[in-house]
Amino acid sequence: MDKPLLITLPKIVDPRGNLSFFEHPNQLPFEIERTYWIYDVPGGEVRGSHAFKEQQEFIIALSGSFDIVLNDGIKEERFSLNRSYYGLYIPKMYWRRLENFSTNSLALIVSDKSYNSEDYIRDFEEFKTLVNEK
Ligand code: TYD
Repeated sequence: MDKPLLITLPKIVDPRGNLSFFEHPNQLPFEIERTYWIYDVPGGEVRGSHAFKEQQEFIIALSGSFDIVLNDGIKEERFSLNRSYYGLYIPKMYWRRLENFSTNSLALIVSDKSYNSEDYIRDFEEFKTLVNEK
């Protein structure tokens, strides 16, 4: 998939507490290589502000809420995540910024690649040049 996509996950409603899940290939378009999470974000902080050359990710607000702002080199799109039963699929080569974190929010991120600092593009002008070459 080469477009961002909000993916609604199954929700097993239960008076004992609800349950949601995702697995490849039913909900998730890639196999998971790595999982990390972002938490204890002070008010007003911004995470991300980079793109990945190869890595794809799927991000869920497991708790609380935050916004993901994606830029494809031409236009910007904002996704507000505030439920634990859907998440945002982000293909490679999208500039992303995570912001507006609510108190106690928890961002779960799964990726198809292990951590590789070489996969990051941290300069927006470089990103625009690379993305427009394609
Ligand atoms: P970074 O991806 O730049 O954070 P964000 O995009 O949320 O602002 O990562 C911050 C630091 O954490 C950076 O020094 C690399 C390290 N890191 C790892 O060692 N492993 C990981 O899986 C991730 C995501 C980051």
